[in-house]
Amino acid sequence: MKAKAKAEIDLLADPLFPELKARVIKKTGLAYYHDKENDLARILAARLESLGYADCAAYAAHLDGKEGGGEMDELISELTIGETYFFRHPEVFTALRKHIIPEILQRNAARKSLSVWSAGCSSGAEAHSVSILLSREFSSAMAGWKTSIIGTDIDKKFLAQAKSGLYQDWAIRTTSEGERAAYFERTPKGWQLRPKFREAVSFACHNLIEDALPNPDLGLADLDIIFCRNVAIYFSREQIRRLMDRFYDSLREGGWLVTGPAEIGADRPSGFNPVDLDGLIVFQKGERPARAPDTFWAPVYDLSDEPLLLPAWPSPVEEPQAGMDTEAQEQEDDASLLERLSERGQWLAAQAPARRILAQTDAGLELTLKAVQVLVEIGDFAQAEQVLKRLLFIDRKCQMAYYHLGILLSCQGDEKMARKAFRNAYDLAAQRPVGEAVPGAEGLTAGKLAAMAKLRALHGAGE
Ligand SMILES: C[S@@+](CC[C@H](N)C(=O)[O-])C[C@H]1O[C@@H](n2cnc3c(N)ncnc32)[C@H](O)[C@@H]1O
Repeated sequence: MKAKAKAEIDLLADPLFPELKARVIKKTGLAYYHDKENDLARILAARLESLGYADCAAYAAHLDGKEGGGEMDELISELTIGETYFFRHPEVFTALRKHIIPEILQRNAARKSLSVWSAGCSSGAEAHSVSILLSREFSSAMAGWKTSIIGTDIDKKFLAQAKSGLYQDWAIRTTSEGERAAYFERTPKGWQLRPKFREAVSFACHNLIEDALPNPDLGLADLDIIFCRNVAIYFSREQIRRLMDRFYDSLREGGWLVTGPAEIGADRPSGFNPVDLDGLIVFQKGERPARAPDTFWAPVYDLSDEPLLLPAWPSPVEEPQAGMDTEAQEQEDDASLLERLSERGQWLAAQAPARRILAQTDAGLELTLKAVQVLVEIGDFAQAEQVLKRLLFIDRKCQMAYYHLGILLSCQGDEKMARKAFRNAYDLAAQRPVGEAVPGAEGLTAGKLAAMAKLRALHGAGE
């Protein structure tokens, strides 16, 4: 039977959708999709459509068939979120340079070997950044050392890019011009990492949920450093617990585990000692406790509305005025005050209610974006950017956050990046039905937003 057009396939109503959803989450660990059924259904519907299937049963049978492995890879590529860039969170690389590598140089002096694993490496920027850092800072101290840097991921398309070492501007946005010239060659296809950095890194497909660990065949055993950043945030609490135990087994005594800030909750992974390196908390392998504690670290994206330890919301410039009865009233008052002052273009006066609104975590998207507009108008670009990044962390498909980011970048004179942000807003809006209301944008439809964003992506924000 020929499939209906994508938009018409209503997978949420398909009786086998829950089974397919559970299968996908079990395979990938992407528990994040537990409460993102619409996103998952849309991605699956597109896969069904491309194969000509009309329901989950036919698609599940295809996954079980001889071409199932290839199709699972295609599906995984659609499901994964691969945002990465070179020297992401510079404080991590400072800690590596100042503390972690020097400590390993001492500890492994007799063995003269260093092994680093970037787990969930996406298109390889993290592993390649380590390679650059070792070459730049430690080549003489490590002369004669055997060094291995391995990046692994579940997504084969990301791995293909990682192996090619070819990147676009976005992936190297935080590197200076001098660094770009030193590390990359400009080619018609993009920025190609120079061979001496590329050749020190190898990449392999490895599923952190399903595949063996430690894994000497892939070089994932007796490791000195494991990076697992912005990966486990999509996993369930139980999966994180198991993964951390397997990381423990894959590290040498005294080895280091470097996680992303959003991956760490109140508790620490069992057997690891937290170490504060100039404000960055990393974990060093210690003695395994006799019994793993019951409590473990959160947060798990799908279990909490608020991911922990994200950049804080901007703090209000002034305390809420006395005389406000309840928080709800306070928010209501601030909301109408913000509205009124913004309409009149009284941006400075609108600053205080805007900041109070941003200090709340439940202000709602529309109000938050109005407050962001105020920050942009008064030139507080740094806080505006922080808020927009937070919105995009919570919902990477937030069309209006990208649109506002475009305006912000444009105000800062970064037209190139602004156009990329508008392009993202356009791509997201164009995927939606034209008449659909855009979340966070009163009365604006996806069709209208797509048109506005396209115009700005083509001609800049000045239009
Ligand atoms: C947001 S990227 C993080 C990239 C890099 N670590 C960084 O922080 O810049 C998350 C990566 O985790 C990978 N990933 C998700 N589930 C995985 C799994 N079960 N096994 C291995 N990698 C996985 C995704 O494919 C994606 O490339």
